[in-house]
Amino acid sequence: MRKAYMPVGPGFGHLLYSLARSVKAKTVVEFGTSFGISTIFLASAIRDNGEGKVITTEFDPDKAERAKRNLTAAGLDEWVEFRVGDALKTLSNPPREIDIIFLDGAKELYLDVLKLLEPHLRPLGIIASDNTDHDGMEAFLDYVRNPGNGYTSSAILTAGGHRPRGHEITIRNRLREPEKPRETSSWYHTNDRPHDSSDCIGDVRFTSAHGCNKRTCPD
Ligand SMILES: C[S@@+](CC[C@H](N)C(=O)[O-])C[C@H]1O[C@@H](n2cnc3c(N)ncnc32)[C@H](O)[C@@H]1O
Repeated sequence: MRKAYMPVGPGFGHLLYSLARSVKAKTVVEFGTSFGISTIFLASAIRDNGEGKVITTEFDPDKAERAKRNLTAAGLDEWVEFRVGDALKTLSNPPREIDIIFLDGAKELYLDVLKLLEPHLRPLGIIASDNTDHDGMEAFLDYVRNPGNGYTSSAILTAGGHRPRGHEITIRNRLREPEKPRETSSWYHTNDRPHDSSDCIGDVRFTSAHGCNKRTCPD
């Protein structure tokens, strides 16, 4: 089983390609390379987008070697960076900004890998997760389906083999818009200490980063 092929089906592979094309992905991080079938779909999209990389990680060095050969044979190796080892280590220095995260390694690690990567996932970035209809995915699904965590997430099915296969597509919401300043006649520090209007220059508004709350300066 350890050396078996467990790739994405063609339906989900084509969806991964389309998602990466539609958001013009430049940086995709894949958890679970295996022999590189899903990596081929993703790297094809990066090539067709014109620039970028799939950073893919695989625990098993033999599988990673086979994946490298498969990507080379497909003429796509220049679009892929292989990281061999445990994803929790190999992805501990993620790229600065990620467009798509693809989760397809050990199911019990989806949430840990996501938490490692999510600070780098751009607003409106995508998390595509395979096999989320399997047992043991509840904690991961609860997390991405909780709007309080900043995502919009839905289950989907694609055709594959004897039965439809389950996946989760998750979109990172836009970052919150900064609060609008409220009109008021005086300034206060964030600790509510009265603030001297001489600290205001014209109608320049100080932000909380300057030690004030977001109120308009007096004339
Ligand atoms: C379902 S297969 C991936 C299939 C591949 N995405 C495809 O569609 O061709 C899952 C792979 O994740 C790898 N894996 C499991 N746990 C891992 C970990 N902690 N770090 C890196 N790879 C891991 C396994 O060795 C296995 O090859």
